[in-house]
This record gives sequence, structure tokens and C-alpha cells, in this order.
Amino acid sequence: MAKAPSQPRAVLFDAYGTLFDVYSVGLLAEQLFPGRGEALATLWRDKQIDYTRLLTLAGRYQPFWEVTRNGLRHAAQRLKLDLGATAEDRLMNQYRHLSAFPENREVLAELQRRGIPAGILSNGDPDMLAVATRSAGFDGLLQHVISVHGVQRYKVDATAYALGPQALGLPARDILFVSSNGWDAIGATWHGYTTLWVNRAGLPIEQLGTEPTHIGASLRAVLDLFPVSN
Ligand code: LAC
Repeated sequence: MAKAPSQPRAVLFDAYGTLFDVYSVGLLAEQLFPGRGEALATLWRDKQIDYTRLLTLAGRYQPFWEVTRNGLRHAAQRLKLDLGATAEDRLMNQYRHLSAFPENREVLAELQRRGIPAGILSNGDPDMLAVATRSAGFDGLLQHVISVHGVQRYKVDATAYALGPQALGLPARDILFVSSNGWDAIGATWHGYTTLWVNRAGLPIEQLGTEPTHIGASLRAVLDLFPVSN
């Protein structure tokens, strides 16, 4: 028999990779470093996330903007690319204004029509999230933009995920946490949320002994979990 998870009452989205397409920086990276753009964008993202985990594990903190810049510098050095101040600034500026995945605005607007509170819970600094949500045209569609910056602990730390229930005044299981990052969907599941992993890239599941509550192929899968009541 299929398991029957509880009906969530609100949604929190991960930001980078879920609402905003982090690999869209690959286009600019490819222009700057022909033939190496995808490798740079991928290693950049991996190092960025790697550094967040190392810092939190050691009880240290650097703002996400700095972590992102440091990840870029390391990735470029590792790939033996001559980054220079101009290319670095262009790539960082691109990161500030990432594209949103095409279906996202419509999904947020539909959640609003259905009366479901929605927000972001992200590793991003508050000003990064403010610029990104504005450039994506999400103004007015998100009731909560929650950054881990206040607690200086990155996901998958319990303190970071605890910010969601605190802000929404709901138990974690009543919140659908949506992420395209498999590890993040599992991290939120560990901390009690009902979860949806949006597996756009058709990746294999992370082997961590826990599965997200739901798996979908695009952000539209969120709407299936909030049926319209007649
Ligand atoms: C975030 C990163 C994990 O937005 O994508 O929190």
C-alpha cells in the first residue's frame, strides 16, 4: 500500500538550483573560457557547497557571497584558468542575477491562488536572496525569505532547518520542503519536514539511508501535492 504522508499546509523552497538555475552561469563561463564553461560552473558549485559544509562542521562561518567567490577562485585555479578580476566580477555578478527555471513563477502564482503560504529557506545571504527574487519577478509571491545567515550554520545543520518551523509557526511535517538538491531534500527529511526532491536532471538518489517523501521532475510536482478543493 502506498504510504500516506500528512497533507502539508505551507511550502518552503531551496533557492539555488531549485528556484534559481545555478548552472546558467555556465553560459557566461563558456564565453569567457571556451570549452571549459560547464566544468567551471560544476566545480564552482561543488566547491561552494563543500565549503559551506566544512565551515559549519568546524563551527565557523563566512557569508555565502564570500563562500561563493572563494569556490569560484578555487575552481578556476584547479582547472588552470586565468580568472583575473574582470572575469571574476562578471561571473559573480551573473551569480547574483541567476535565471529562474521557466515553470517557477507560474507555480508560485498558482500556490498563491490556492491560498498556500510559500517561502524560501536558503544558505544564501539575505541581500543575495532579495536581489535574486526581485530579478526573477517573484516579488509578492513569497511570504517568507529565510536565510541561515542569522544563525551562521549552513544546511544540513539542524539549526538551519529549524528556522522554517520557527518562522511559519508550523511543525516541520506540515511544511513541504522543496529542493532540487538531493542532499538538501534528504537533510530536510532528517529534520522532520515533508519533502519533495525535484530531480530535473534525472540523477540517481543520494545513498544516505533516507529517501525524500516525494520525488518529481519539475517544480510543477508541488501543485499535485496541494489539490484544489471543490
Ligand atoms: C541554498 C543552496 C543549498 O539555496 O542551494 O540553500
